[in-house]
Amino acid sequence: MAYKDVYESWKADPDGFWMEQARAIDWDQMPSKALFETEAPVPEWFVDGMVNTCWNAVDRHVEQGRGEQTAIIYDSPVTHTKREIPYVELRNRVATLAGALRAKGVEKGDRVIIYMPMIPEALEAMLACARLGAIHSVVFGGFASHELAVRIDDCKPKAIIAASCGIEPGRVVHYKPLLDGALEQAAHQPDFCVIFQREQEVADLKPGRDVNWHGFQYGVEPAACVPVEGNHPAYILYTSGTTGQPKGVVRPTAGHLVALNWSMKNIYNVDPGDVFWAASDVGWVVGHSYICYAPLIHGNTTVVFEGKPVGTPDAGTFWRVISEHKVKSFFTAPTAFRAIKREDPKGEFVKKHDLSCLKTLYLAGERADPDTINWAAAQLQVPVVDHWWQTETGWAITAIPMGIEEMEIKIGSSGVPMPGYDVQILDEAGQPQGPDTLGAVAIKLPLAPGTLPTLWNAEGRFRNSYLDHFPGYYETGDAGMIDQDGYLYIMARTDDVINVAGHRLSTGGMEEVLADHPDVAECAVIGVSDELKGQLPVGFLCLTKGVNRPEEEIVKECVDMIRDHIGPVAAFKTAVVVDRLPKTRSGKILRGTMVKIADGAEFKTPATIDDPAILDEIREALSRIGYPKG
Ligand code: COA
Ligand code: AMP
Repeated sequence: MAYKDVYESWKADPDGFWMEQARAIDWDQMPSKALFETEAPVPEWFVDGMVNTCWNAVDRHVEQGRGEQTAIIYDSPVTHTKREIPYVELRNRVATLAGALRAKGVEKGDRVIIYMPMIPEALEAMLACARLGAIHSVVFGGFASHELAVRIDDCKPKAIIAASCGIEPGRVVHYKPLLDGALEQAAHQPDFCVIFQREQEVADLKPGRDVNWHGFQYGVEPAACVPVEGNHPAYILYTSGTTGQPKGVVRPTAGHLVALNWSMKNIYNVDPGDVFWAASDVGWVVGHSYICYAPLIHGNTTVVFEGKPVGTPDAGTFWRVISEHKVKSFFTAPTAFRAIKREDPKGEFVKKHDLSCLKTLYLAGERADPDTINWAAAQLQVPVVDHWWQTETGWAITAIPMGIEEMEIKIGSSGVPMPGYDVQILDEAGQPQGPDTLGAVAIKLPLAPGTLPTLWNAEGRFRNSYLDHFPGYYETGDAGMIDQDGYLYIMARTDDVINVAGHRLSTGGMEEVLADHPDVAECAVIGVSDELKGQLPVGFLCLTKGVNRPEEEIVKECVDMIRDHIGPVAAFKTAVVVDRLPKTRSGKILRGTMVKIADGAEFKTPATIDDPAILDEIREALSRIGYPKG
């Protein structure tokens, strides 16, 4: 079947299409139908089915006789470690960990925060929660204590599972002190914390609260898989919105299983047993879906890589991992390729490895610029598929489904809609637009299986952020267009969310932190273009009247505040003091215009601007810090 036939067969009978895909999952009770109208703000999938994610990701492969197949390859250039975990060992480890969590009171529906680096134990912790029907929330290691505290207070975990430390090139990330700091700030306290002690740093445990990962599992009864309802939350993953309060994206269990399993063959073109590698982090949605769940659900071997594209030890690391572990499909963010290309433009490292195992490269997380795509395709000699999705959806909205058909790849486009997604371009009034017309990218409801039914503890915000603007549609927050052949082109965000090295960040959240500085009366943060990271945040600070301390001192304090509050991942290193910010007559800061000035792009002075002279002041301030570049 060609892509068009598959997409049309879904459109003609969405229920039938997804019930057919649901057969690939082991159910404790098969759902009676696919789509249900429930009390959630959008329709939900497979609600009356009973199912367990861990069973499908681990146990069933052992039952089917593939226990000896490697489930996880751990490859850590930063600790010089390599290890393989077969499915049967994974099953035993996860069942014991789940048993230990249960012995300390964790049950179906309880939340568990996981704060761990890229080690197999992070996946084991996720799977152990899934085994019990507990709802995990993984927090990325590049966030500071405050961000962890905000998530603790929002999802109120019964337990927190953390590692003693993470390893970044050149420094140890002190996870345990960061966790202790978060618990000092948080109003909610978990019943207990489980600490995985790494060799590189052994953390102090707080008696009565902290238990040792190995010690607390000793002698416990392994736990069996607990069947849960189809719409039971599998996990909560916080992502950036327009304010400092992150959005808790809820992932429903059954739709997640069905959609991810479908995607592995149809999009990523791998069969059970093939090695699949997503070079991301378990703290992001790519890590949830394509380091942990999808490859395991589909019976693949997944690679857990603890390192960077460059510097661990060099720009050839990715190629070594691909050739050594026989990776068939590889997924990463364009920024990783830009980093490699910058260090090895001629691809000298590529030539040192036999990459004949690699069949396709997949890119997502940010816009893939044509230079990067062309360079990657020329070096690796495989198709490069740019595909587009969000934390909210959990899997690709548009892609080139390589397992269905090797369709034409159009550079600059992130592919065609996957079954489950009716993608449309809308104008401001919500009217669908014809081909090649720029507008808001929206998805006609219902959304595909696996996508979010709501936000944790924030249904009003869910409606307000995604449903209210265009009734009957899900608003993606991206702007773009669809061409005559149905290919989507993502051009920009329609909100103040920025994307730094494939990481989604809130400029609003950064502004909230800066506004807390005693000398800052008003501020704005914008995302400027960056050759390596795609975008970088730059701050503009208006000082309180009468402050006459050196500007550099205040800027440095602001940079430190963002690092302490949000974390190093914000990559906030630049700010500049200005007298005033450009605003519309109604008082809205003209961030878009400031971005254009910083990027050296052409723009029209907005008709609504209060005082056009301020734009010259902004231009002058930006030139002081080296913008526009080049
Ligand atoms: N734990 C703690 N700190 C982390 C971290 C983690 N898991 N990940 C990143 N950081 C820190 C980095 O050490 C860096 O700190 P620094 O300011 O002290 O140098 C800071 O956060 C910014 O990190 P990053 O934006 O990743 O920049 P970098 O200069 O360290 O590396 C790249 C640049 C391009 C190599 C890197 O961004 C990369 O590998 N990107 C791949 C993108 C990706 O996987 N995206 C996920 C979505 S698919
Ligand atoms: P996240 O939720 O962190 O995955 O970020 C999702 C956002 O990243 C999207 O809404 C887009 O703005 C951007 N994004 C993800 N993939 C792509 C892509 N292939 N092309 C352009 N932008 C992308």
